[in-house]
Amino acid sequence: MKTVKLNNGVEIPILGFGTYQITEPEEAEKAVREAIKAGYRHIDTAQSYMNEEAVGKGIAESGVPREELFITTKIWVENVSYKGVVTSFERSLHRLGLEYVDLLLIHQPFNDVYGAWLAMEELQKAGKIRAIGISNFAVDKAVDLAEFNEVVPQVNQIEINPFQQQSKNIEALKSEGIMPEAWAPFAEGKNDIFNNPI
Ligand SMILES: NC(=O)c1ccc[n+]([C@@H]2O[C@H](COP(=O)([O-])OP(=O)(O)OC[C@H]3O[C@@H](n4cnc5c(N)ncnc54)[C@H](OP(=O)(O)O)[C@@H]3O)[C@@H](O)[C@H]2O)c1
Repeated sequence: MKTVKLNNGVEIPILGFGTYQITEPEEAEKAVREAIKAGYRHIDTAQSYMNEEAVGKGIAESGVPREELFITTKIWVENVSYKGVVTSFERSLHRLGLEYVDLLLIHQPFNDVYGAWLAMEELQKAGKIRAIGISNFAVDKAVDLAEFNEVVPQVNQIEINPFQQQSKNIEALKSEGIMPEAWAPFAEGKNDIFNNPI
């Protein structure tokens, strides 16, 4: 699969399999296992999706070597602090049954973002996370984090689709070295997108 190079050289598969709203454990496990069998190599979960354990089982059952997969999880708002990241990330790893994740994101721009970022930088240096990033950050907040910390966020996962093109924001993030990543690339099926003539 085609990949995109992040600002620290890590390559992210351009197409990911999202697991939002797959909360029923057997369904999440099966969906991830089958997605990997179908060719996906990039799986996106989050602490708030309540399915990290099932996603981890699906990954293990796929039989695909760990180093061929790219796994993302996200720190939920209540854990966005130095201590919150350290303790909740360890729990996420345990639930996923993994030694490291490929991408860890701060899910929303709330709580102690700076403290959380420091913990993520340390975990990255310790080899527990290959790339660190943010999600749903407005450009000004993303740039603020990038300018006043050692590590420039590798990714900002935001809503991008035909109804939410964000062209200027995408340009601004890229010029800062932050790779935009789309969530809801099909606009969550809204606005009758699949029948839109354009
Ligand atoms: N960082 C964040 O805050 C955030 C927020 C939202 C999502 N995400 C991530 O992004 C992932 C993807 O986003 P998403 O699932 O919200 O939205 P999406 O991929 O834009 O849209 C999914 C919707 O499109 C429909 N769909 C897809 N292909 C279709 C087709 N060929 N014909 C008709 N309908 C089709 C699906 O219908 P069916 O349900 O019938 O398949 C589903 O309702 C999530 O799983 C999650 O990992 C992140």
